[in-house]
Amino acid sequence: MTDIATLEQDILTAWKEGDDSPAARDAVARALELLDQGSIRVAQKQGAEWTVNEWVKMAVLLYFRFNDNGTIAAGDLSWYDKVPVKGNWRTAGVRAVPPAVARFGSFVEQGAVLMPCYVNIGARVGSGTMIDTWATVGSCAQIGRNCHISGGVGIGGVLEPVQASPVIVEDNVFVGARSEIAEGVVVEEGAVLAMGCFVGASTRIFDCRTGSQRDPGRIPPRAVCVPGALPSPDGTHSTYAIVIKKYRDEKTDARTALNSILRDGGAP
Ligand SMILES: CC(C)(COP(=O)(O)OP(=O)(O)OC[C@H]1O[C@@H](n2cnc3c(N)ncnc32)[C@H](O)[C@@H]1OP(=O)(O)O)[C@@H](O)C(=O)NCCC(=O)NCCS
Repeated sequence: MTDIATLEQDILTAWKEGDDSPAARDAVARALELLDQGSIRVAQKQGAEWTVNEWVKMAVLLYFRFNDNGTIAAGDLSWYDKVPVKGNWRTAGVRAVPPAVARFGSFVEQGAVLMPCYVNIGARVGSGTMIDTWATVGSCAQIGRNCHISGGVGIGGVLEPVQASPVIVEDNVFVGARSEIAEGVVVEEGAVLAMGCFVGASTRIFDCRTGSQRDPGRIPPRAVCVPGALPSPDGTHSTYAIVIKKYRDEKTDARTALNSILRDGGAP
């Protein structure tokens, strides 16, 4: 068995048996180190589908069980929590604008830019991506490369309430200001969400190109989505829906392009 396979087994056993022995604690600490370095991840794409590594999620939860709150200091600032915050942004090649905070166990790839935002444990942010001001990347969420997660966006996490799958945002996605994506929704490559789009596992998605509803929970590649409404089947009311108005074109590209000067992740 590889080291990782052994680690997976150790975590699964610790989870199943409620084991809090020093060996179990060591396994969890090791898993979180690997997660923090980007060597393992909560989910990855295999072919066209995303696979969730349940054992990595378990390690994240066990980390909370095994660790007590303690003071975390940053110069004159300090907090009181179980999970330290990441630092050394210069070495990591990530431009991080104060007071951006990413918790230990998240991975932010070289060349990403963190405006004053929050990245929770287990999350992953790809190179060239900007997490804009007051955006939150929830626990274990997977954000691809060259995305713009605009100001005030909320990307849901998997820990509270407990969700089976993390939110996945694939490469080259634009998420407009104040949008929310939660409940394991997958936003596929190059999609664009206008300002104020709210997408959960039950949100209905209407595609103007086909004139019909799509399965919920997945925004297709390059779809340009805006907030809308759809009538109920009996016509008594309508509810919020995501409407795919078109698929990305040059105009969309021009409106969602980021200034390359602002994207400079400041490689070490
Ligand atoms: C989605 C967006 C990029 C526009 O893309 P676009 O390709 O230029 O879209 P278009 O202007 O061609 O509009 C296409 C259709 O979608 C509709 N539409 C576009 N944006 C919309 C919005 N925000 N809300 C509702 N409808 C919208 C248009 O009215 C048009 O409808 P029609 O075909 O019936 O006339 C833009 O609306 C947007 O949300 N920008 C993000 C702004 C933002 O969050 N900036 C970051 C700040 S940190």
